[in-house]
Amino acid sequence: MRIDVLTTFPEMFAAQPPAALAVSIPGRASAAGLIELVATDIRAFSDNKHKKTDDRPFGGGPGMVMMCQPLWDAVHAAEAQDPRPATRILLTPQGVPLTQALVESLAARPRLLLIAGHYEGIDERVIERLAPLEISIGDYVLSGGELAAMVLIDAVTRLQPGALGDELSNQADSFSPDEAAGRRLLDCPHYTRPRDWMGAQVPDILLSGDHGKVAQWRLAQRLARTAERRPDLLA
Ligand code: ADE
Repeated sequence: MRIDVLTTFPEMFAAQPPAALAVSIPGRASAAGLIELVATDIRAFSDNKHKKTDDRPFGGGPGMVMMCQPLWDAVHAAEAQDPRPATRILLTPQGVPLTQALVESLAARPRLLLIAGHYEGIDERVIERLAPLEISIGDYVLSGGELAAMVLIDAVTRLQPGALGDELSNQADSFSPDEAAGRRLLDCPHYTRPRDWMGAQVPDILLSGDHGKVAQWRLAQRLARTAERRPDLLA
C-alpha cells in the first residue's frame, strides 16, 4: 500500500520512516515494503513568491486559513506520481471518528492520500472540490493533522497482511470483531510470570491448561470489561 502525506511540515516525515513509525510493527512493515510512505511539502506548490500557504480569514477573527491553490496543486501533483487511485483523507476534528471498522476499510485500499491541516482551518472551497473523507482521531484539538496522520498510518499498517509476527495476534485486540460475541469488544486482562507478584495471584483458570475454559473466561472478561467501561459498544 502507498500512503501519501501532504503537509506544510514535511520535516515531521523527513526520516524514512519517521521515528514514531520506525519501531515495532510499523517499523517491521516498512522494512518489509508493506507500506510505502511518501511526504509532499504543500509549500513547494505555492505560486506565491513568498511561498505562502495561508492567509487571514475573510470576516475577521484570529488565526490563519490554509489557501486553496497550494493544496489543490499539491494533491494533483502527488496523485499523478502513481496510477493507483488514492482515497483522499483530510485529518480534522470535524471529521468522522476513526474506529477500528474504518481502519479495516482503509487498510484494504491500494493508496491513501492524507492531508494534514494546520492554522485555524482550510478554505472550505478546496475541501468541497477535493471531497476528501474527513476523519478525526478524537474529540480534542491537535496543533495540526500530522500526528493524527501518523496515528492512522500506524493503525492501517498493522493490518497489512504479513505485518504482525503472529497473524492471529490482532484477532483478540480491543475493538476487533469477536466472533463468539458478534461484536467489537475491549481486550481481556493479561498475565505473565511470576505467578505471585507482591502477593497478587494470577487467576487459577489461566494455569489450568484447559484451553476451552481459558477461552470462555477470556470472552467473559472481555464482555464484562466492555459493559463496565464502554457500554456504548454493546448498545
Ligand atoms: N487535527 C487537529 N485535531 C485533530 C483531531 N482530533 N483529529 C484529526 N485531525 C486533527
